[in-house]
Amino acid sequence: MKTQQLQLKKPELEVKGLNKRYGKGCSNCQTPEMLHVKDNRCQHCGSVWACIDVNFELYKGEILGIVGESGSGKSSLVKSLYFDDAISSGSATISTYKNGEVNIFTESAQQKRYIRNYIMGMVYQNPYLGLKMSFSSGGNIAEKLIASGTFHVGSIRDRARQLLEHVEIPLARMDELPKNFSGGMQQRVQISKALANNPPILLLDEVTTGLDLSVQARVLDLIRKIQRDLGVAMIVVSHDLGVIRMLADRTMVMRHGRVVERGLTDQILEDPQHPYTQQLVHSLL
Ligand SMILES: Nc1ncnc2c1ncn2[C@@H]1O[C@H](COP(=O)(O)OP(=O)(O)OP(=O)(O)O)[C@@H](O)[C@H]1O
Ligand SMILES: [Mg+2]
Ligand SMILES: [Zn+2]
Repeated sequence: MKTQQLQLKKPELEVKGLNKRYGKGCSNCQTPEMLHVKDNRCQHCGSVWACIDVNFELYKGEILGIVGESGSGKSSLVKSLYFDDAISSGSATISTYKNGEVNIFTESAQQKRYIRNYIMGMVYQNPYLGLKMSFSSGGNIAEKLIASGTFHVGSIRDRARQLLEHVEIPLARMDELPKNFSGGMQQRVQISKALANNPPILLLDEVTTGLDLSVQARVLDLIRKIQRDLGVAMIVVSHDLGVIRMLADRTMVMRHGRVVERGLTDQILEDPQHPYTQQLVHSLL
């Protein structure tokens, strides 16, 4: 979809001034500005400002890439959005949740659970974080459906079958434990679980890292198919610009917790402005 067209509409997700500090902090690191710009770790107490004043919009059906070196804050950002880690300050609104009028970070635990069940899906780099390895693949999906109030066994199995079919897991393996699956299959089960309740937003953290290139290609194809078929808006986190190039319409580059560059992915790859992005792009060539 054309970004210009998208931007006339209200964003699906709008994040403003998100800050996330790990650690208690001390008198030297009360605000991220108190630290040296080139380092987001406090030398006195070891606390880290993992996300600093992050602002962005995610539009319906688009894929937003987030790229940056290890430790730049990419996972902290998506974990904050999924409420895995509590933020330090900032706001996020979602157009399909209470009309985009409330800051989701200040909602009750119950409402946050609702958002995790219906509005956002998460796919972790480590499938052990996203899947219960002692449940079958079908069971993993069932758990998500039950959490959202579907209790009819027949409907649950039908939906699980449909989801596994979508991610090309053979139905004969529906009752097997995902711990016996290959890495690529585990990621596909995780994706099907994340999609169980048709969330409008999907967060994918390094979903192909560590997979063989051919397996990686199949997972990337699947992600594109989901975008095409279901129109889900996605945040794709990767330290690999190749993955970002293949998937993302727009991209943000993070370094030391800050967004240092943003724009259309093609533009960023062809004409990077920030010296850090230039370095990343050149290392890809
Ligand atoms: N639970 C935690 N406790 C303390 N510090 C943390 C925690 N999680 C992350 N950090 C710190 O926050 C910073 C950002 O980490 P994060 O995992 O978000 O980086 P990343 O960009 O996802 O890196 P990678 O590419 O290696 O996955 C790092 O300095 C990291 O050490
Ligand atoms: Mg990470
Ligand atoms: Zn400190």
